[in-house]
Amino acid sequence: MVKVITYGTFDLFHEGHYRLLQRAKALGDYLIVGVTTEGFDKNRGKLGVVDSLVTRIENVKNTGFADEIIVEEYVGQKFSDVQRYNVDIFAIGSDWVGKFDYLNDYCKVVYLERTKNISSTTLRKTKYHVYRVGIIGNGRIANRFIPEAKFVSGVNVQSVYNPHFESAKLFADKWDINAYDNLDKFYDSVDLVYIASPHNTHYEYAKSALEHGKHVLCEKPLVLHKSQSEELFKYAEQKNWGGRLILFEGIKTAYCPGFQKLLGVARSGKIGNIRNVEACFTKLENKNNRELTDTKYGGSFLELGSYVLLPILKIFGTEFDSVDFSTINADNGLDIFTKAFFKFPNGMATATCGLGVKSEGKLLISGTEGYIVVEPPWWKTNYFEVHYEDSTRVEKYNEVFLDDGLRYELSDLVACLNGIDDTGFKLTDKESIAMSSIMEKFLAR
Ligand code: CTP
Repeated sequence: MVKVITYGTFDLFHEGHYRLLQRAKALGDYLIVGVTTEGFDKNRGKLGVVDSLVTRIENVKNTGFADEIIVEEYVGQKFSDVQRYNVDIFAIGSDWVGKFDYLNDYCKVVYLERTKNISSTTLRKTKYHVYRVGIIGNGRIANRFIPEAKFVSGVNVQSVYNPHFESAKLFADKWDINAYDNLDKFYDSVDLVYIASPHNTHYEYAKSALEHGKHVLCEKPLVLHKSQSEELFKYAEQKNWGGRLILFEGIKTAYCPGFQKLLGVARSGKIGNIRNVEACFTKLENKNNRELTDTKYGGSFLELGSYVLLPILKIFGTEFDSVDFSTINADNGLDIFTKAFFKFPNGMATATCGLGVKSEGKLLISGTEGYIVVEPPWWKTNYFEVHYEDSTRVEKYNEVFLDDGLRYELSDLVACLNGIDDTGFKLTDKESIAMSSIMEKFLAR
């Protein structure tokens, strides 16, 4: 019996997939098909997959060509599968020519010609709307956003707004997009707005974008007053003439796969009941940068507070008994180092951040049975450890965090827009509102 194996995502099952499986089956007597898991695809940077694993398996099954279906979960699995299943032929489409030659030592590798003019990627574009994205503000983060957006299916960054046209124009020319200094015209050119302007301008821009019927991804901190965030979320919710408007606060950590995994492990009971969370993030900032010169809206807590508050609110919830702040201030009055100390009904937490004091930026989650430690940069979570009383027992977890990581929040937002996945749980309206109320308390102290 000749055994053949092939692999794929098989998203939005199409003729190219059908023909590939048909020819793979014809190469032998028994066909094994490996279908990728969501996690595996995310890890290799394929973020726009629409169909669930169950649907994709069902579609492969319905062709009647597969004698056995397995899931592909990790890099290197093909190497083991070929040996484990005693495979005679490894078949894959011609887009992979040469990539799997290393398997020739274990079986015959056959590259089957790809069916022309069809792919899941193009189907995703035609089946789903491609959202036109416009950026408000063109500072450092906006420059990092554009390359990240290229990894997300279903979006196309095409405009930038800055009241100073010259500045917008320079940015637009660099990225080959359109520049606007007229807000109405800018809104006309987009479906989704990414707000990357200074903190104090977020509220007005988010409000006007929503009023113009645009979805909003706003850099953190969303706003600096509780009433403002409540108003914005309420407005987005109510505007449901054509489906509700989406408003996401862009704290990239919340959306990255490693941080999701970390929360899952923390809440699994492995470390018992969680009693203490310590989150620290420091970044020595150039003294001439806005973060250390804008005496009203600069400083460590407004800049980095969202990151350190995130794990605390995710773990203990938004109902804290008290919060107290201690700060070290520069001569201009801005905080260069801040600690926020929280008391919760069943635990305590400290959120530490600094732009002018360097510390070890760790995340530590302590429970009644053990603790979890994430080394810096934990806000780009890709590795963490679980420790117990027995210090020789250490469990290690890895996850991928790709480049700047802004792609995760954008891809979740698009999934929400397409009604594919309700990923809003990763950072809820309630959590964003709690963060703005903490920012407000900080400013009022
Ligand atoms: N395939 C093919 N002809 C096509 C599309 C895919 O023969 N027109 C093959 C691929 O080469 C692979 C298998 O089908 O062997 C599964 O491919 P997959 O990556 O799931 O499909 P794509 O349409 O290429 O997906 P994407 O656009 O997301 O990369």
